[in-house]
Amino acid sequence: MLFHTPWFYVSRAMPQAFISRVQVRAATPADAEAIIHVHYAAVHKLASAFYPPEIIEAWSRKPDEARYQWMRQMITKGDEIVVVAEAESGVVGFGLMIPKSRDLRALYVHPAAGRQGIGRKILQALETRAVAEGLSGLQLIASLNAQAFYQCHGYKALSHGSLQLSSEHKMDCIKMEKIFDEGGIQSNPLPALTASP
Ligand SMILES: CC(C)(COP(=O)(O)OP(=O)(O)OC[C@H]1O[C@@H](n2cnc3c(N)ncnc32)[C@H](O)[C@@H]1OP(=O)(O)O)[C@@H](O)C(=O)NCCC(=O)NCCS
Repeated sequence: MLFHTPWFYVSRAMPQAFISRVQVRAATPADAEAIIHVHYAAVHKLASAFYPPEIIEAWSRKPDEARYQWMRQMITKGDEIVVVAEAESGVVGFGLMIPKSRDLRALYVHPAAGRQGIGRKILQALETRAVAEGLSGLQLIASLNAQAFYQCHGYKALSHGSLQLSSEHKMDCIKMEKIFDEGGIQSNPLPALTASP
């Protein structure tokens, strides 16, 4: 179970050694529970300074069998490309892309493993896959807390808007896009925004 993982393995003293042992691979249905737990922890810990509690709760409610099953089906169906970042201690992040619509739908890293390059590694894996699928770019709806991350990886803000989470809850978001350079995905990163909570 993910929350029993010895997180002290994710040592901030050795980020290079840690990240080199993190593998990004295709998700399997057996990863569904770990993915949902990463989602819950990332939203509740990393986004709570940017959104009120009711939005955080609607965005990621407590993990349960219904959520695991929903994720298992998503992985099995195959319309989305789902990848996980796996460390020795287990799944520490995941990403989800829909090639048909050029949408990068999700990218989450467990807060205990944050700021060690895992988000970047997942993003690079999805962008590489997008190029392999013949896409010239990706678009996404970024949460306010994630805008700086995407911006420093070459995504440009197109517009501000809101995302309907449930009948009563909408969250403020930013539509962003990255057009890949001809022959590659490494466009010049823009300077990071200073995100204000
Ligand atoms: C956004 C998220 C995926 C980033 O994952 P991460 O593994 O911590 O990011 P990385 O360590 O790969 O960051 C790489 C670089 O991106 C930039 N960056 C990442 N997070 C940032 C932040 N919160 N503010 C500013 N810059 C940031 C930095 O330049 C960082 O390099 P540095 O740590 O050497 O300064 C993670 O914070 C997360 O899961 N957030 C909550 C969930 C979420 O909102 N997901 C997006 C839904 S649209």
